Amino acid sequence: MTTVSSRDPEIEQRSSVARSFLFVPGDRPDRVGKALGSGADAIIIDLEDAVRPEVRPYARSVIRELGEQPGVPSQPLIFARVNPFGSTDFAEDVEAAIDGRVDGIVMPKFVPGQAATEMDAALSAIESSRAGSDRMPVIGLVESAAGLLGLSAPTGFPSRVKRLAFGAADFYADLRISYHPSGIHTDLAMAALVVASAAQGLPAPLDSPHFSIGDDVGLEAAVGRARDRGFGGGLCIHPNQIALVNAGFAASEDERAWAVKVLAAWDDPSSAGAIRVGDELIDEAMARRARQIIVQVESLRVLGEKDVT
Ligand code: GLV
Ligand code: MG
Repeated sequence: MTTVSSRDPEIEQRSSVARSFLFVPGDRPDRVGKALGSGADAIIIDLEDAVRPEVRPYARSVIRELGEQPGVPSQPLIFARVNPFGSTDFAEDVEAAIDGRVDGIVMPKFVPGQAATEMDAALSAIESSRAGSDRMPVIGLVESAAGLLGLSAPTGFPSRVKRLAFGAADFYADLRISYHPSGIHTDLAMAALVVASAAQGLPAPLDSPHFSIGDDVGLEAAVGRARDRGFGGGLCIHPNQIALVNAGFAASEDERAWAVKVLAAWDDPSSAGAIRVGDELIDEAMARRARQIIVQVESLRVLGEKDVT
């Protein structure tokens, strides 16, 4: 929640480059307060799996109260994870998210295609019934076999879907096999999310949480793998994971230096066609990649100068 409208272009840009998204149970306002000062780029107040059904009304009231507090622009972005479209809690969760003036909704069990089109219409109907509410952005959490297969649907990504995320725990349960952080099904899902995000013109997706709390070595490896595969950030389940996730998804100094060197040579008016930079042959595609790295470095500045190289 911020002082500016949640549909402000700056909020959209921050959402697209944010790296760390920290989950916090909606029925724990003490933890919400701590999460706001945790250094996460975004927090996700959970109404779904971390909150038992009987305490969801209370968790919704916690979210509603956010809308009554004056926002502070330096806060992390605030998202609410509602219960899935089609569940009994869905409408009330969405209403609470609107009243809480959160910056967006995380939609669990997201399935692109016809189901997403129907979800979009349901959200619009709730929004039009509430004065002053505009179009809520959505992060689609892909965590089922149907969700994965739906990624190849050419339509069915409503324009309010601004980013995709991977939920490995639900995905493996849906496949009826035990969770493997680096198994073949993880590889398949991760590749599909990156390809679908690029095809739909969405920012780089968010990786699944790393479920071993305190396992910094494993987390660092998982972040490096996700980044190399084209992910732009990760879901966090503990504040101790934030620093590694923020650092791991930022462009490295080597990458930035490479991009600066390549673009200096490429943009030189005397250059033509493919050029040689050091030992590397640089063509248009390489120069395009270099520009993407510089754009990412510059974009991260909107999240705050604190951890940008
Ligand atoms: C996250 O929601 C997951 O299922 O991993
Ligand atoms: Mg899940």
